[in-house]
Amino acid sequence: MLTKFVTVLCVLAWAGTAVGQEIPPYIKQCRRSDPALTDCIKEALQHLRPYLSSGIPEIKLPSVEPFVMDQLSLQLTGGPQGYRINLKNMEVFGASNFTVRSIKLADGSKPFETRLTIPRLTIHAKYTSSGVLIIIPASGSGDFDAVFEGVTADVKGLVSTNEKPTGTHLRVEKLDLNLSIKKPRLSVSKIFNNNRILTEATNLFLKENGHEVLRALQPQLQKKLSAEFTGIANQLLDNVPIRFFIVD
Ligand SMILES: *[C@@H]1O[C@H](CO)[C@@H](O)[C@H](O)[C@H]1NC(C)=O
Ligand SMILES: *[C@@H]1O[C@H](CO)[C@@H](O)[C@H](O)[C@H]1NC(C)=O
Repeated sequence: MLTKFVTVLCVLAWAGTAVGQEIPPYIKQCRRSDPALTDCIKEALQHLRPYLSSGIPEIKLPSVEPFVMDQLSLQLTGGPQGYRINLKNMEVFGASNFTVRSIKLADGSKPFETRLTIPRLTIHAKYTSSGVLIIIPASGSGDFDAVFEGVTADVKGLVSTNEKPTGTHLRVEKLDLNLSIKKPRLSVSKIFNNNRILTEATNLFLKENGHEVLRALQPQLQKKLSAEFTGIANQLLDNVPIRFFIVD
């Protein structure tokens, strides 16, 4: 009887360890001794893409398709009647479709650096506007869409380590992100009251000033994206110890 009990305990303990040691499918392991370690880490990041796209419920990582952001506010022309747009309920699609172009690992106090490209990022949002656009009173609301083609994201980040019962974990402390976008296309639709003149004037303005609008949007977009990316990276790193990513 006692022997049986001990056997059951041993099996349970073994099963517990086995589950804890099993490498989750979203991780592609790299060897520290691999002379092409950087390339391996590049591939490991690429390997994560479909999992980022669908989300990883076991570690409560939500899907990044779409990526949801609360709001942004843009002052597009100066003066007391300046034209402003507020964006709300922003959904960003395409972020998981990245290609890792280069990667430099953190070294001592030096940050890690990576360059990602994304062929196409689209943003869908609700907007409200106020002020005067050229000579038209431009108070209105409706749908706002942005299509960014040829996106390059340069990312620099500082990481720290912390000890947990599961082992040593990495943590992203600071993330700096710069976007460069080759071709922005911005438009509005479904304007409140279906005001055709305002719709056309706004779209003409957005078409002719796409790069300027993007410049106004960019600092806030970069800040929000880097905060979101930090959250995603830390959700993953907090759940998976380093020894799962890199083995000796
Ligand atoms: C993802 O990127 C590839 C090229 O790298 C492109 O062909 C494909 O259409 C993209 N898919 C989405 C959903 O954006
Ligand atoms: C972003 O651009 C600024 C200004 O050009 C630069 O100082 C910073 O190092 C850049 N960050 C990244 C991650 O490339």
